[in-house]
Amino acid sequence: MEQNAQRPRRIRGSGLVRELVAETVVDRRKLIMPHFVQEGEGVREPIESMPGIDRVSIDNLLKDCEADLAAGIDKILLFGIPEKKDEIASEAYSRNGVVQKAIREIKKKLPDILIITDVCLCEYMSHGHCGIVKGNRILNDPTLELLARTALSHAESGADMVAPSDMMDGRVGAIRRSLEENGFHDLPILAYSAKYASAFYGPFRDAACSAPQFGDRSSYQMDCRNAVEAEKEVLLDIDEGADIVMVKPALPYLDVIYRIKKIADTPLCAYNVSGEYSMVKSMTRLGWGDEERLVREIITSIFRAGADMIISYHARDIFTQGWLP
Ligand code: PBG
Repeated sequence: MEQNAQRPRRIRGSGLVRELVAETVVDRRKLIMPHFVQEGEGVREPIESMPGIDRVSIDNLLKDCEADLAAGIDKILLFGIPEKKDEIASEAYSRNGVVQKAIREIKKKLPDILIITDVCLCEYMSHGHCGIVKGNRILNDPTLELLARTALSHAESGADMVAPSDMMDGRVGAIRRSLEENGFHDLPILAYSAKYASAFYGPFRDAACSAPQFGDRSSYQMDCRNAVEAEKEVLLDIDEGADIVMVKPALPYLDVIYRIKKIADTPLCAYNVSGEYSMVKSMTRLGWGDEERLVREIITSIFRAGADMIISYHARDIFTQGWLP
């Protein structure tokens, strides 16, 4: 090759040229904002390990969603924190559970918001596991019925999409069947397909009071050493009726996002989880980083790896501060 025929720096010389040649197009409309909702009125409890994120009662959730909507956020993911927990997660599928009530209120007052609900039992179980427990085992098949009931109750309350995050085998199929049987033929399932047993969920478990009381989640969530297995999980979920699949967390699994994008014939979501958010917040608090640049780089990297959409607690900062186009 002619010496200097290629100088990659030629197309890095100005912001305008960099804009033209950028391979990854970031679009903040593809972000989803998570919320934690609990019983009560006028409740707003800041989550210490997630600065800027609060646990709120439904009245305050409506206020937050309204303010977010004014800033441009129109897609949300709902998590519920029930008043009482038990061994069969009764509040998860109760018609008057906190998530079910919240969905109805948002639909009534803010119909322009797309509501996705997290379907899991851990927040509703006294032991904090994502399924029915016998001895120290988490039972798979008996749990499926409760998950299907939970998803159905969200659908009946008006959810636009359900997102099972429990990692039981066969849950997408069980939910799909129950939705079909009850006339919800058009309701999409966003499956947490490749969900890893991750230390990055720590702050979330503070937020949702859902830390397991014994053991951990490694008998159902994935092992971080595995990537081929993630492909298997995704293909199974698509086969069972998932419309969108997910990789979670995002940053330690960018390679998995890249792999899944190549094999899935559905859109792909990535969850930029609580610990990834808190890392940035703590770094910023310590004066060790520029938050806007950190967030921009992180979100861009997840899109670059292949995600079509991202769930991120930074969505509010991104919209209100105008950090991303
Ligand atoms: C419920 C659930 C968890 C998260 C989403 N859904 C926690 C867990 O599996 O322990 C984590 C989200 C986050 O860390 O932001 N199963």
